[in-house]
Amino acid sequence: MENIVVLTGAGISAESGLSTFRDSDGLWEHHRVEDVATYEAWQRNPNLVRSFYNERRRQLFSAEPNEGHRQLVRLEEKFNVHIITQNVDDLHERAGSSKVLHLHGELKKLCSETDPFYIVTLDDWEHTSAMKDKAGYPLRPFIVWFGEAVPMIEPAIELCRNADILIVIGTSLNVYPAAGLINYCSPHCKRYLVDPKETSLGIPNGFTFIQAVATKGVKQVVDEILM
Ligand code: APR
Repeated sequence: MENIVVLTGAGISAESGLSTFRDSDGLWEHHRVEDVATYEAWQRNPNLVRSFYNERRRQLFSAEPNEGHRQLVRLEEKFNVHIITQNVDDLHERAGSSKVLHLHGELKKLCSETDPFYIVTLDDWEHTSAMKDKAGYPLRPFIVWFGEAVPMIEPAIELCRNADILIVIGTSLNVYPAAGLINYCSPHCKRYLVDPKETSLGIPNGFTFIQAVATKGVKQVVDEILM
């Protein structure tokens, strides 16, 4: 069975009502990265960081997967499909994708700062200061912040090395190491890029560009691959 790797970013969830980061009106236009998305911010002002992610989580609990997420599930009929997502939402899983690797963490989870294996899943949106690990230390969001290591990058690189087809959807390819994953695919790998806009760096070499929103463009690519 051939291997398909799908690399997704915030754009695939935009039509589910979740904001992207760098579009006009995106999250980083309203919040400073250094105030809410670094370990230093968490140490300086945990209430602000908690409230930023609580708001994201509250939106996620009322969001639903869209046609872009759902179309990707069809590929599993004929291919070994791995989704590598930069997104911290769970919309790929809820759409039915069976293999989803989260590079930047998961919004519905919290973790211990001292025990990397202590991870809890929230069943509601609110993370409060009363939530503690077994040793009594406050739990932090299970998010890979700017400046932190990306533990899942090695398995993601391995998946890209073995990809026969790579589909990149809704990412500005601005953030490394995630953006560098496309360079690990072999020369024979067929590549598609779905995005309503060209990235600031243009279309990366060897990609077929489908200039469309995810709810339209993903179906077009999936139809072509399954044809
Ligand atoms: N369908 C598809 N793509 C879309 C849509 C849509 N409906 N709407 C916007 N896009 C595209 C934009 O054109 C842009 O190329 O989605 C991309 C979003 O880019 P970013 O906001 O930079 O998001 P992303 O690439 O996922 O960011 C990477 O940065 O801040 C960090 O950790 C955060 O995981 C995130 C990482």
